[in-house]
Amino acid sequence: ESTRFYDFKVQTKRDTKLCNSKDIVTINGMFPGPVIYAQEDDRVIVKVTNKTPSNVTIHWHGVRQRLSCWYDGPSLITQCPIQSGQSFTYNFSVVQQKGTFFWHAHVSWLRGTVHGAMIVYPKAGVPYPFKFPDEEHIIILGEYWLQDLQQIEKATLASGGPPPKADAYTINGHPGPNYNCSTNDVYQIDVIPGKTYLLRLINAGLNTENFFTIANHNLTIVEADAEYTKPFTTDSVMIGPGQTLSVLISANQPVGKYSMAVAPYESGKIVIYQNVSAIAGFNYIGAPSDSLSLPAKLPKLDDEVAVKTVMDGLRSLNQVNVFKEIDKHLFITIGLNVQKCHSKTPKQNCQGMHNGVLAASMNNISFVNPNISILEAYYKKIKGTYTEDFPDTPPKFYDFVNGAPNTIPYDTQSLNGTRIKVLKYGSRVQLILQDTGIVNTENHPMHFHGHSFYVVGYGKGNYNPITAQFNLVDPPYMNTIGVPTGGWAAIRFVADNPGVWFLHCHIDIHKSWGLGMVFIVNNGQGELESLPHPPPDLPQC
Ligand code: C2O
Repeated sequence: ESTRFYDFKVQTKRDTKLCNSKDIVTINGMFPGPVIYAQEDDRVIVKVTNKTPSNVTIHWHGVRQRLSCWYDGPSLITQCPIQSGQSFTYNFSVVQQKGTFFWHAHVSWLRGTVHGAMIVYPKAGVPYPFKFPDEEHIIILGEYWLQDLQQIEKATLASGGPPPKADAYTINGHPGPNYNCSTNDVYQIDVIPGKTYLLRLINAGLNTENFFTIANHNLTIVEADAEYTKPFTTDSVMIGPGQTLSVLISANQPVGKYSMAVAPYESGKIVIYQNVSAIAGFNYIGAPSDSLSLPAKLPKLDDEVAVKTVMDGLRSLNQVNVFKEIDKHLFITIGLNVQKCHSKTPKQNCQGMHNGVLAASMNNISFVNPNISILEAYYKKIKGTYTEDFPDTPPKFYDFVNGAPNTIPYDTQSLNGTRIKVLKYGSRVQLILQDTGIVNTENHPMHFHGHSFYVVGYGKGNYNPITAQFNLVDPPYMNTIGVPTGGWAAIRFVADNPGVWFLHCHIDIHKSWGLGMVFIVNNGQGELESLPHPPPDLPQC
């Protein structure tokens, strides 16, 4: 194993897009940010120095942080943010992991511009389980706003209403010809006829799940969330924020120019994202320079079938034989709701439905950020930061027997709190995530820190333990699962990584509204498996 050093300067940069200039927060002045390269089991050391006025943390998305929980990055979960002028050095090993990862800011909505790829190759001499590509390319999907992101977040939360749509979707930072002043702001790959390309797709967008497709070319998925999958060929993929997919493409079409396209998957009932797509080029060398790009055909924006087809196709490469005995069973509702306007915050305009504010919850608890990191409070036994009473099941008014996920018309009853669930070290856990949604049911990309999990089942409607079908043979091993709209997903994992681990919707506005909760995996037996000690330069709140 070797050690990879990186120096990340968090700095603002003047950025011009869509005929508009603004300051954006970046790493080393790059957008998207620098790529981290490593090999399986390598140590990665990144010194992050904050030269902006904003608070920052960086999360290494998909890295399980085996026995290194202090470096995971979510603000106020595992660390206090790195304040202006300060620095913090992340130091972790990518233990038994390889594939397509990414890193991103994990505080406020900074992820919108503070993100980049992290590529971990197999150890020297270890081949891919698929045809070795002639070339590989990183494709980062993003959303871009003309306004300052932190201001948008603040204004949205204060309004109680939904967030504004992105002003552009982007591919590696480029919106493409569908947007103002962007005819030449197009990402392009030059391809040689007959060669095979590996595209490493990363959705770093803030608030929408996206479809991705290439005109006239098939995509063969070979890896999802940095785990190999059985090769699965499709003409489009849906990728939620927080998900990564590696796909093989063979340049086997007539010499020409072909579009790559990205547009939102609109899983809810409320349709707001018509006719927005980012376009990039997949251009054969030898195509006349004035030839037009063949347009890509995206699925329709609410195409659930396209989503399910790919989901059904995701299987672990090899048989995994998931454990059958479960030590801890949790049933957790996830969804959007409306809360009454609080008198505490008189400035709220209460533009949500029924004169309330939009909110989100898990088992009816809207997650509230604590004042210091939960990990620090746990480690130092500081009282008053969180309570250990996150419920194992939803409250009684959720009635799953009689069809509708919720029998009360508008859930104004969700409680604010920083409630966590302690999991015994080594316990085998099954989690049923059930989408409810009184305001709107939606597909939620639920992301778990510190562990990957087997997606053993999912379906439409309400989870029914009698009829639910589970795959314990070759389910995919993921860190983010798009729970179907108004449906459920069952995941299993062994809680074998001591620390404090966030489980949340990777759609930032949902997270801001409280769609998250925290697990504490308590100490293992013996020195090697115990909670690590905090690093000396850990930021203070
Ligand atoms: Cu990629 Cu908690 O996030």
